[in-house]
Amino acid sequence: MNFIIAPSLLSANFNNLADEIAKVEGIENSWLHLDIMDGNFVEAITFGSPVVQNIRKTTSLTFDAHLMVNSPEKQLPLFIEAGADYITFHIEASKSPRDLIKTIKNSGRKTGISLRPSTPISSIKNFLPYIDLLLIMSVEPGRSGQDFKKKSIERIKEIYTLKQEESLKFLISVDGGINEKTAGKVINAGAEILVMGSYFFGNPIEKVKNFINDLRNKSLPK
Ligand code: DX5
Ligand code: ZN
Repeated sequence: MNFIIAPSLLSANFNNLADEIAKVEGIENSWLHLDIMDGNFVEAITFGSPVVQNIRKTTSLTFDAHLMVNSPEKQLPLFIEAGADYITFHIEASKSPRDLIKTIKNSGRKTGISLRPSTPISSIKNFLPYIDLLLIMSVEPGRSGQDFKKKSIERIKEIYTLKQEESLKFLISVDGGINEKTAGKVINAGAEILVMGSYFFGNPIEKVKNFINDLRNKSLPK
């Protein structure tokens, strides 16, 4: 299955961003995942729209912005302006998800919603027909390098079933703890996008490429 690999820039070597981005460009069917943390919705602060705007000039990769911020309505126009292609906000951080979806859609960008591992799936159910991407967190948002939460497999399966039953179009993305042990399971459960932070940037690129190729050859088309 030709799933998308979305390496997270957060785990890249910031001393050499051009080479790190070139690694992502060297993978077929890849996006660049941008983890935006505000020191409020989550403890850490990463980088914001000016950085995204800057790297936008250097690559044509699809930018998959994951906003882990409170008051996402304030950030949306900035990320639209900065050239993000997919803009994902957290359901727990938004007072009016409908308005956020509208703002993103009207800008011509793709809309995503994300949910923490403990947030019930029922909280996003009503929005599924209107979004382009659902980002299922398989770790607590806030930092890379955490262990995959096993319960996420059941959540991916549940979302996959909902998607099939209603013939919905959104893509199923999974974020957190994706590596050699977990990637296959996540794909088999129905994921179409794998966000990869520490595994992608923390291993020799040839090893990562071989692993992705093997996974693509092995997994059956859904
Ligand atoms: C966590 C971020 C993830 C993270 C992934 O808050 O949303 O995108 O950087 O990193 P790994 O793959 O190392 O769990
Ligand atoms: Zn993320």
